[in-house]
Amino acid sequence: MSYPYQIKSLDAYQKAWKQSVEQPETYWGEVASHFLWRKKWDKTLEWNFKEPNVKWFAGGKLNITENCVDRHLETLGDKPAFIFEPNNPEDRVRVVTYNRLHKRICQVAQMLKNHGVKKGDRVCIYMGMVPELVYAVLGCARIGAIHSVIFGGFSAQSIADRLEDAQAEFIITQDGAYRGEKVIPLKSVIDDALIGNKTVKKVIVYTRTRTPVSMLKGRDLWWEDEMDHAESQVEKNNIVSFPAEEMDAEDPLFILYTSGSTGKPKGVVHTCGGYMVWTGYTFVNVFQYNPGDIHFCTADIGWITGHSYIVYGPLAAGATSIIFEGVPTWPDAGRFWEIVDKYKVNILYTAPTAIRSLMGFGLKPLEGKDLSSLKVLGTVGEPINEEAWHWYDEHIGKKKCPIVDTWWQTETGGILISNLAGVTPAKPAHATLPLPGVQPILVDENGKEVEGNPAAGNLCMKAPWPGILRTTWGDHERCRKTYFSTYENLYFTGDGALRDEEGNYRITGRVDDVLNVSGHRIGTAEVENAINMHADVVESAVVGYPHDIKGQGIYAYVVCQNLHGDESLTRQNILQTVSRIIGPIAKPDKIQFVNGLPKTRSGKIMRRILRKIAEGETQNFGDTSTLLDPNVVNEIAGGKM
Ligand code: PRX
Repeated sequence: MSYPYQIKSLDAYQKAWKQSVEQPETYWGEVASHFLWRKKWDKTLEWNFKEPNVKWFAGGKLNITENCVDRHLETLGDKPAFIFEPNNPEDRVRVVTYNRLHKRICQVAQMLKNHGVKKGDRVCIYMGMVPELVYAVLGCARIGAIHSVIFGGFSAQSIADRLEDAQAEFIITQDGAYRGEKVIPLKSVIDDALIGNKTVKKVIVYTRTRTPVSMLKGRDLWWEDEMDHAESQVEKNNIVSFPAEEMDAEDPLFILYTSGSTGKPKGVVHTCGGYMVWTGYTFVNVFQYNPGDIHFCTADIGWITGHSYIVYGPLAAGATSIIFEGVPTWPDAGRFWEIVDKYKVNILYTAPTAIRSLMGFGLKPLEGKDLSSLKVLGTVGEPINEEAWHWYDEHIGKKKCPIVDTWWQTETGGILISNLAGVTPAKPAHATLPLPGVQPILVDENGKEVEGNPAAGNLCMKAPWPGILRTTWGDHERCRKTYFSTYENLYFTGDGALRDEEGNYRITGRVDDVLNVSGHRIGTAEVENAINMHADVVESAVVGYPHDIKGQGIYAYVVCQNLHGDESLTRQNILQTVSRIIGPIAKPDKIQFVNGLPKTRSGKIMRRILRKIAEGETQNFGDTSTLLDPNVVNEIAGGKM
């Protein structure tokens, strides 16, 4: 397999960027022609950011699984699509060839069909990092069902909300998932999520940990039985087939829920054609993937990084990827390095938080690990500090691997700003330059463009790239309001950024009420809502503060009507409540009980001050004259109750 759209020099990058901006239809039409279409599109691009309405390759017909799998069978059928590294390094490694992947996807598609799942239906997937998760995702895509994967760390309540929002009728889950020493009881969480649910008809349960589970007659089915049955249906005379549903380029492919500045997570919708082209194109270009390379993205498929750079992007390129079930620190902090050594990994893509946490273990875990196979390193999810960048460069890349600092979001579908490994220059802690098709602009508070270099401002995009979100599920107006109304005719990312003399971007972090905790996106309003659910809480305010490993930690100021029992018990109770409502990932790192919150006369909480206090500031709070009761500030800063 070759990639005619692969950019191999700085000069070629500059030309590609220029053409992609001046003649987007010509540029992306050419790129898209190297993918597999059942019918060519009628119009390459149609858009406005007012409604918004973005259509790429409209009228084109395809099925993404034919691109990701069927297309490769002739040449790569016996080659591994995935290597599964189980949680326990002593357990059996599984190699999933493209042929095997094809067969499994056909079986899942048949299984879904057997239960009446049709194109456009929503299927919720709540699983651990096992190959069956990929089969489930692609089985949905094969029949045109819209998958909605929920990360295994979310609680029953979070799942219930998402099931309701998506009106999902079908769930694929597993008995339990291994994560280091722990077993996460996924099916039991689903059981709780289904109390009171009216839409879900069937739950398929894959057996992984042999954790005891309840199985409800008529609703719950075993994956193994269903897949066995489907096997006989899709395989005849050694020929495996399940016809892929013909999809329009603009038909939804999946929904992925993400946090914003309001309390309710929104279902970001990506469509088949543009997302396929964008993930395939960016995967090959950013990581400079070459056929035969082994790619290891350490993200979970429950997040967008896993969707785009474990499942769709690599498969579109016929790549071989690692699926790692466990955690970086179990059985010890050398696990990533052991995997790199064991499989001779060429590309390693991870998060700054993982790097910082592993740095903390020193160099001992690296001893005896041969990392010489590595060619490219990548980071994603949050700004990388220079210290972590240099450690990664020196101790993992041995100063010979380009580091790609990839900036993007759930909404962008794939990477938007990044250097191309070894092709365009890297700069520590900078995402650097926009990819072809990406037109960043910095604006000030009033939406006025900040011109020239260097510059600082809020990061927006002037025009659509093929992977941009199309809507938020069931509520297009919300999509417009959130991303396209802050600044006229621009997509607003929610991030602030700096631009240096050479035009390199450095992302400074969110400028809205969204936290980035260990690379996980969490809305402060969401956490506040969860805290406020606790019976003794009157109100709360949540802010982020700098955290050495997590990047940002969660700091909660809580007003209680009574401290039931004592302070420490109430603190534990609040943490339990947040775990129940959102999931353990949203538990505050610090809770400070206060008598009141600093509010303006109009009732707005002055978060600026709370952020300063969380950062350790005890004075210099700036103008507090608009506060209803300025004394509150001193009281909080003094840590008094
Ligand atoms: O603030 C930016 C940060 O992560 C946010 C997007 O989060 P999410 O939708 O969960 O997607 C994460 C994985 C793509 C962004 O708004 N972010 C992501 N990548 C970077 C980053 N911040 C700085 N540098 C990055 N490379």
